[in-house]
Amino acid sequence: MRLHVVNHPLVSHKLTVLRDARTDSPTFRRLTDELVTLLAYEATREVRVESVDITTPVCPTTGVRLASPKPMVVPILRAGLGMLDGMMRLLPTAEVGFLGMVRNEETLEASTYAERLPEDLSGRQCYVLDPMLATGGTLAAAIRFLTHRGADDITAICLLAAPEGAENLEKGLEGLDVPVTVVTAALDEKLNDKGYIVPGLGDAGDRLYGVAH
Ligand code: URA
Repeated sequence: MRLHVVNHPLVSHKLTVLRDARTDSPTFRRLTDELVTLLAYEATREVRVESVDITTPVCPTTGVRLASPKPMVVPILRAGLGMLDGMMRLLPTAEVGFLGMVRNEETLEASTYAERLPEDLSGRQCYVLDPMLATGGTLAAAIRFLTHRGADDITAICLLAAPEGAENLEKGLEGLDVPVTVVTAALDEKLNDKGYIVPGLGDAGDRLYGVAH
């Protein structure tokens, strides 16, 4: 697994406003959207393209276009939905599949409670959207789910990552023969005993959409 922390002053600026507890939901949603577009620029560096012949007003030339099959963007419900528009701005012709993951609080195992994805993802590059790489359990389960369906290249975009989450994810993907990259705006200090990233930004789903419980 490759972890890429995007080091850019605009990313740090937007992330700082997101972290601020005084930032309201509408501002939080807008900044998430902008930040994901910046992260998506880095995350799509290896997106597959094919060459295409075109004619400019001046002469014929050869360029590139996104290869087929088109990339698959997979937001993890609920908070990953807040990242979808920012991603699709850069990849408007990608397809979108949805994955709902829940963690059993006793076994701590993540399982799928909802999915809307093609049965066959053979040869597909997948971009998984999950704002917080906290324990890593959900992301590992989501990545395994996609690779069981045939996805052969996975990039996860996370607003924030905890060192424990990155380490657990790496362990959770052991033996997986598919390249996995995580692109994030920051690798934070730690997880606290409630499983929140420190300093973090709180509960991403609640900050995007309000308290759900
Ligand atoms: N999920 C969140 O929304 N926030 C955290 O800090 C950790 C997990």
